[in-house]
Amino acid sequence: MSAAVPRHIAIIMDGNGRWAKKRFLPRVAGHKAGVDTVRTIARAARDMGLEAMTLYAFSSENWKRPEEEVGALMGLMKQFITSDLDEFVANNVQLHILGDLSQFAPDIRDMVADAVARTAANTGTKLAVALGYGAQDEIVRAARALAAAGGADAITPEAMERELYTAPLPPLDLIIRTSGEQRLSNFLLWQAAYAEFWFTDVLWPDFTAAHLMDAIAAFARRERRYGGL
Ligand code: FPP
Repeated sequence: MSAAVPRHIAIIMDGNGRWAKKRFLPRVAGHKAGVDTVRTIARAARDMGLEAMTLYAFSSENWKRPEEEVGALMGLMKQFITSDLDEFVANNVQLHILGDLSQFAPDIRDMVADAVARTAANTGTKLAVALGYGAQDEIVRAARALAAAGGADAITPEAMERELYTAPLPPLDLIIRTSGEQRLSNFLLWQAAYAEFWFTDVLWPDFTAAHLMDAIAAFARRERRYGGL
């Protein structure tokens, strides 16, 4: 089966810290530049009519980073919602959050909930932001919910799909990771079962719409067999 156009692309946005270090800047400057790339890539996804894009913005493990860096990331996310939400609303982008927000401060939780609500009726590109996300937690949470409702037999692949944070999104086709690392880092482990991977040495703040197009072109050349011949 030839792959053609991906429906759902997920990105591990890595390399902000190294981008800043190369410029003798604080790590936070790298994250700030990373937010500009988020904006560019979200616009590119929308402009090309991509069905869904998932961005790994803050993992459940990122809480272990220094308090100052975590605080700066939270500030950047709030700023981003404030500055960009109207554009998402106006451009038919539907926002989704994947992850456990219980450890986030109430003001961010409120802002995020408001952003999701304001875009809920949109019908264009689904932009999912993974926040407080860990795939192993996601899978355990889904399995527990099914077991609690219907016992062990209720746990089937199809039922799991319906319980995962990604239930409203199309199947994952392509995972991109920037900055030269080649691992999943607890991201979309279940959903990656048949996804293609595309790695680049480009650091996230340097990633452009042209790189996204390169990844999509590489995807189109892959032959996906889903375990068949
Ligand atoms: C990885 O770079 C990046 C992160 C842990 C955070 C990604 C977050 C953003 C790009 C901004 C916030 C997102 C939104 C949606 C507004 P790193 O710090 O691990 O880089 P390094 O590996 O070079 O140190």
